Amino acid sequence: MANAMKLLFMPGDGIGPEVMTEVRRVTDWFARARGLDLEIDEGLIGGSSYEAHGTPLTEDTLAQAMEADAVLLGAVGGPKWDNLDFSLKPERSLLRLRKDMELFANLRPAVVFEALAEASTLKTDLVAELDILIVRELTGGVYFGCPRGIDDIGGGNRRGINTHVYTTPEIHRVSRVAFEIARQRSGRVCSVEKSNVMESGLLWREEVQALHDAEYTDIELSHMYADNCAMQLVRNPKQFDVIVTDNLFGDMLSDEAAMLTGSLGMLPSASLGAVDADGSRKALYEPVHGSAPDIAGKGLANPLASILSFAMLLRYSFELAVEADLVERAVANVLAKNLRTADILQPGTTQISTGEMGTALVYELEALAA
Ligand code: IPM
Ligand code: MG
Repeated sequence: MANAMKLLFMPGDGIGPEVMTEVRRVTDWFARARGLDLEIDEGLIGGSSYEAHGTPLTEDTLAQAMEADAVLLGAVGGPKWDNLDFSLKPERSLLRLRKDMELFANLRPAVVFEALAEASTLKTDLVAELDILIVRELTGGVYFGCPRGIDDIGGGNRRGINTHVYTTPEIHRVSRVAFEIARQRSGRVCSVEKSNVMESGLLWREEVQALHDAEYTDIELSHMYADNCAMQLVRNPKQFDVIVTDNLFGDMLSDEAAMLTGSLGMLPSASLGAVDADGSRKALYEPVHGSAPDIAGKGLANPLASILSFAMLLRYSFELAVEADLVERAVANVLAKNLRTADILQPGTTQISTGEMGTALVYELEALAA
């Protein structure tokens, strides 16, 4: 590779730093064994940034993120910062990164690893071999719409307002990502909204359909109301391949889809911006799990979601599909050996620590590359 891959790692809070330590062992391995030229910087985010600088994200760190080829984030938040003003909460840093980097397409795969099919709360045959992808719009809708706020309406009463708003270009650009990815998969997209109740949902449905009819007639497009989708995801999840939906419904449906796999600690995500003239795009990768402050620092955390997020980084930011496959196969092999962190422990399997999982993973990488 001609240029170094410039990465910014943001470990964040709770279990973030310890899972990122294990990602570092994977990046070290790729540098050593596969000659990847990785230039990794670290930045503070969330509560850890608040402690050091009085803000969950400094302008300097934001600038670093904007300049990086890709950002890998651990997790943000914790009870220590729950009572801070809204603008200082760790979560704001994440929303600011998404918005300022214009990461409008959030890819959340829900994949059931063969060795973990029985860990799901659903019947094994319903989820075995499940492989779906939720494409969530990430920079619009009710998360960012204006007007917003809490007003005093007199007489000791208040009014809370948020605005759910979408425009044609916002709907088209995220749908385009879903259609393009579907082409690499089964060629099916289900668009999800509440067009029976919301004007913005009706626009969503019409615009996704219009883009499809103009450019993606090879894709099989269906539409579903969000409440029905929530139900269908637990009734028969394998009917779906790619789901495209707005920011709020995507937030909820992706948590639901994550739980189908029985292991939140296993799920990666990618948040992508538009492709620039030079073919590159801003991107941030993070595990779907949160900062889990209750288990932080105890060696109980599962580093595999972060390691799989690094695999997505290789795949989507650098087109290193062979390397990404290596990581994903190493994860499957570790699980097949019945090695488990606490969150995915099952009868007959062996519990190992966060660090031991990193060791086992690197061992499998070595074996696959040999
Ligand atoms: C997520 C999270 C965030 C969201 C929070 C932490 C702001 O739930 O990434 O799904 O609501 O988008
Ligand atoms: Mg969420």
